Amino acid sequence: MKGIILAGGAGSRLFPLTLVASKQLQPVYDKPMVYYPLTTLIENGIREICLISTPQDLPRFRQLFGDGSAWGLRIDYREQAKPEGIAQAFLIAESFIGKDPVTLVLGDNIFYGGDVFQRAFRDFKEGGVIFGYRVHDPERYGVVEFDKTGKAISIEEKPKMPKSNYAVPGLYLFDNEVVSITRNMKPSARGELEITDVNVEYLRRGKLRVCTLGRGFAWLDAGTSTSLHEASAYVQTVEKRSGIKIGCPEEAAFRQGFLSFESLKHLIAKLPKCEYRQYLEEVAAEAARGS
Ligand code: G1P
Repeated sequence: MKGIILAGGAGSRLFPLTLVASKQLQPVYDKPMVYYPLTTLIENGIREICLISTPQDLPRFRQLFGDGSAWGLRIDYREQAKPEGIAQAFLIAESFIGKDPVTLVLGDNIFYGGDVFQRAFRDFKEGGVIFGYRVHDPERYGVVEFDKTGKAISIEEKPKMPKSNYAVPGLYLFDNEVVSITRNMKPSARGELEITDVNVEYLRRGKLRVCTLGRGFAWLDAGTSTSLHEASAYVQTVEKRSGIKIGCPEEAAFRQGFLSFESLKHLIAKLPKCEYRQYLEEVAAEAARGS
């Protein structure tokens, strides 16, 4: 399966921070926001990744990740010239996707905990898989409604009167049909190719699985100054308590076997003396001890 990270948008809700750097490059505690969704992909075995951003911001991402080979990845870059919707990513990345299934993650979505994703990726065969997460403000998101048996029966984008409290987070798995489905879609009233319309089409075909992310799973969105601050506080609290880093792509790549022990050591040697380096040194030392 291939992976797309969509890191577009004007980030206007974070102004004036976004005068300095795009939203997905803002710090969430101790690393750039985009590290978190990238790590989610790596942890689930995805190593071929296409990063989509605006023409202005794309060079910064290139500078940050290069071709991805230092982390055992292959990262391609594509431009989204105008904010014409999340689903447009499948058309922009069509030649990258080729004949493969694809997962899309939004560059401002942070996930932590549980093994629902691992199971969804491992068991994926066809159709679409999306997730449902209970929130107190569903009207801000795509909202999925379930019947009494737990089967998804409707999905609506930012409904004024939500039919449930279950929001659809920004991580989606699709078979290759997603490209033709998107090609046949029309832009919504706000002029965008909506990811919710893709999900609705899979649902209509009886090919959509919705997995709920239960208690104990954290889905944070970092799109406003307040939620950005809260996401940082959350990451800091968990990291400080456990001594484990959330959203560390180097560690995830090493644990997935994308990076050899030697490559990890080599990569660490190039980092400046800092807390991040110290952490990776601990990861390497632990691996050397075989624990
Ligand atoms: C987008 C999607 C929405 C989804 C959300 C997750 O909304 O349109 O369906 O629930 O991402 O973050 P946006 O963040 O673009 O308002």
